Amino acid sequence: MSTNWWDHHPCNAGYRSADDKFVGEPHLMPFAEVDRWAGKQVLDAGCGIGAVAKRFARHGALVDAVDSSPESLKLAKKRCSKMSCWQVDLTALPPSFGNRFDLVWCWGVLHHCLEPQAVLHALHRTLRSGGTLKLMVYHRWSLRVLEMFLEHPVAGARAVVLGDEALHKFISNHSEGATGCPYTDLYEPEQLQRMVEAEGFAVQRCAVDHIFPFEIHAWRHSEQRLRLLRRALPRDLYQLLERRFGWHILLEATK
Ligand SMILES: C[S@@+](CC[C@H](N)C(=O)[O-])C[C@H]1O[C@@H](n2cnc3c(N)ncnc32)[C@H](O)[C@@H]1O
Repeated sequence: MSTNWWDHHPCNAGYRSADDKFVGEPHLMPFAEVDRWAGKQVLDAGCGIGAVAKRFARHGALVDAVDSSPESLKLAKKRCSKMSCWQVDLTALPPSFGNRFDLVWCWGVLHHCLEPQAVLHALHRTLRSGGTLKLMVYHRWSLRVLEMFLEHPVAGARAVVLGDEALHKFISNHSEGATGCPYTDLYEPEQLQRMVEAEGFAVQRCAVDHIFPFEIHAWRHSEQRLRLLRRALPRDLYQLLERRFGWHILLEATK
């Protein structure tokens, strides 16, 4: 049996429709700018089941999709025959990827990597000069983290008392749709920016975004019922909260 947790929990595989990802993460498509990459070489680094890679391919990009989970890749291949899929760790990308891509897309992956700096180094190598990196990682000071403690108060309090290692385990355990993710780090925008710049990228923008808009339990049963917070707050105020306490840090940089 595979020891890769992602093989048993391919990302978003439980959604009723592949497009649910874009309903639950409405900021993703505007950030991806899929039309901009038609005819260009795109690397989806940590593609999961290929939901976004498929969108790039459908809009005319030439897509290479990489993931370390064979089961996720199987689903990605089924979903889109137009892209090339590679089962490989992001720290060990093939030499043929060097200086090749116009866009490296890495959504929700770096915070699961044990060696994030080595991954950024590898991603930098794959980009052409002038190429673009688009990255999303989880934000430390987010309402999502507060929510984890509210949903699991006993385990959360225990983790706080036990210290850093237990806290890291608690966050990892509850960071995904399925429980038990083995490794999740949380980031702050300045820290992420420094890590990216250390590899020679020029950061164009780095901003916090995204509060999941739907009631989680209803969503798990394929219902799109808006959360109280989303229903009650005026849009501007909600967006202000997203920019300060959102769950995602979006970073765009060039080589
Ligand atoms: C949260 S999922 C995101 C998947 C996809 N980017 C999406 O947005 O749907 C994280 C993915 O990263 C992959 N992953 C984690 N660490 C990796 C590594 N070091 N090398 C390659 N893939 C990795 C996992 O297998 C998993 O499919």
